[in-house]
Amino acid sequence: MTLRNAASTGLLLAFALVFGLAHPVSAQPPGMAEMQAATRKDHQNMMEQLGITKLRPGKNADVKADNAANYNEELANPYPDLPEALTLANGEKVTTPEQWQARRGEIIEDFEREVYGRVPKDVPSVKWEVKSTTEKKIGDIDVIEKQLEGVVDNSAHPEIEVKISATLGVPKNASGPVPVLMMFTFDFSAFARSVRPAPKAPDAKDAPAKDEPAKEGQAKTPPPPPRNPFGFMGPSPNEHLVKAGWGYCSLVATSIQPDNGAGLTKGIIGLTNKGQFRKPDDWGSLRAWAWGASRTLDYLETEPTVDAKRVGIEGVSRYGKAALVAMAFEPRFAVVLVGSSGEGGAKLHRRNFGEAVENLTGSGGYHWMAGNFLKYGTAESKFGEKTAKDLPVDSHQLIALCAPRLTFISYGIPEKGDANWLDQRGSYMATLAAGPTFRLLGAKDLGAGDDYLNTPLPKVNESLLDGDLAWRQHDGGHTDLPNFPHFLEWANKRWGAK
Ligand code: GCU
Repeated sequence: MTLRNAASTGLLLAFALVFGLAHPVSAQPPGMAEMQAATRKDHQNMMEQLGITKLRPGKNADVKADNAANYNEELANPYPDLPEALTLANGEKVTTPEQWQARRGEIIEDFEREVYGRVPKDVPSVKWEVKSTTEKKIGDIDVIEKQLEGVVDNSAHPEIEVKISATLGVPKNASGPVPVLMMFTFDFSAFARSVRPAPKAPDAKDAPAKDEPAKEGQAKTPPPPPRNPFGFMGPSPNEHLVKAGWGYCSLVATSIQPDNGAGLTKGIIGLTNKGQFRKPDDWGSLRAWAWGASRTLDYLETEPTVDAKRVGIEGVSRYGKAALVAMAFEPRFAVVLVGSSGEGGAKLHRRNFGEAVENLTGSGGYHWMAGNFLKYGTAESKFGEKTAKDLPVDSHQLIALCAPRLTFISYGIPEKGDANWLDQRGSYMATLAAGPTFRLLGAKDLGAGDDYLNTPLPKVNESLLDGDLAWRQHDGGHTDLPNFPHFLEWANKRWGAK
């Protein structure tokens, strides 16, 4: 068990105790075997659509395993040259913001087709409803909290229902509209249901399975637990936010799209496909969660208490990947806090360190991505073999798509459970390599130069927060909570600075 797993398991057990359970969380919740079988079938279908007969196995996080991930920095950069953010496909250099618009379109096309998938043209509309409004105190701040539900029009395929679940809280005594941080969250109520003795559950089929099967060659990791829901480790994200005069909007990712391959024929992806398998360039869960964040932003734009020009997006781990994808594709988000996002997020795909592309092409993680992404983990197929170096884009360009808006890349430390698996350094390299695009657009980058291959990782707790692009590795674990005060101070200052 890695430190990270140990930390998560500890938290899960703590929740089990809080829920007054006599028995800890069972390893195999009901419906798990069926879900895994359906995931394998969906994964196999995608391999067949692409003509793939053999994928390379994912790396194993365990250093003693046969197919152990590399943790030796000297072997970490087999493909040191990155695709250029500031060169058009026709070879022309991008030297003006106008040219960047054309280049941005090319980069988006590559990410959509090969990496995260396309949002279909005809996604049905969402109707928002305020289910309840309550007043509460967070710390010593009075807050008005609304439970929101975004019901997706499913008249074209009534078998699939999608109801986006979000909670908006704003300080009651704010003098005007407030900035809001939208945060992807884990479905805490479904978690509570899953750890209680099995209910009679007429609705069990509606609850998306939260567990994912173990990735090939990797120990199963549970999704990130909710951050500090009871405040026993210091202020919660909501408390940090309202104290700083911001509002919060937590968005339940799995109310948009389930977090497993079996769920690709359900949720918003399944609804638009009328329950059929995806095509290779259809969206994966990350893009679907990001779409849900955009729809939630549509609602926030109608809220007089919210400063819709200052809405940010945040997430940790798989939701850190989703936050970065949401920011990259949705220009209305003004700021992002990307927590411990790793492979598929801020980490360079071309790095050979910790988690690899192959871990997101196997049946445990492929659902986050477009089907086409499987090609880059392929050993044998009708098109031969492909690796990370064949990807037309890499994560520095995803970060570049956020420019010139405020972009904060956050990590913790392996000693506390933010495992080496995430490749902090590979993410720092990508952040450095996104710098020139920020500068081209008149924004300030990290201020640490452009030499992504040789610039050392900043020290733990060293803040690179003088620019619109920011980096900080805190001394905590697999969370971005210790960076919240730094994030808020930085964003307020940058906004004030403009
Ligand atoms: C696993 C997976 C990561 C992911 C993480 C998570 O560790 O390998 O890619 O980010 O789970 O909990 O989201």
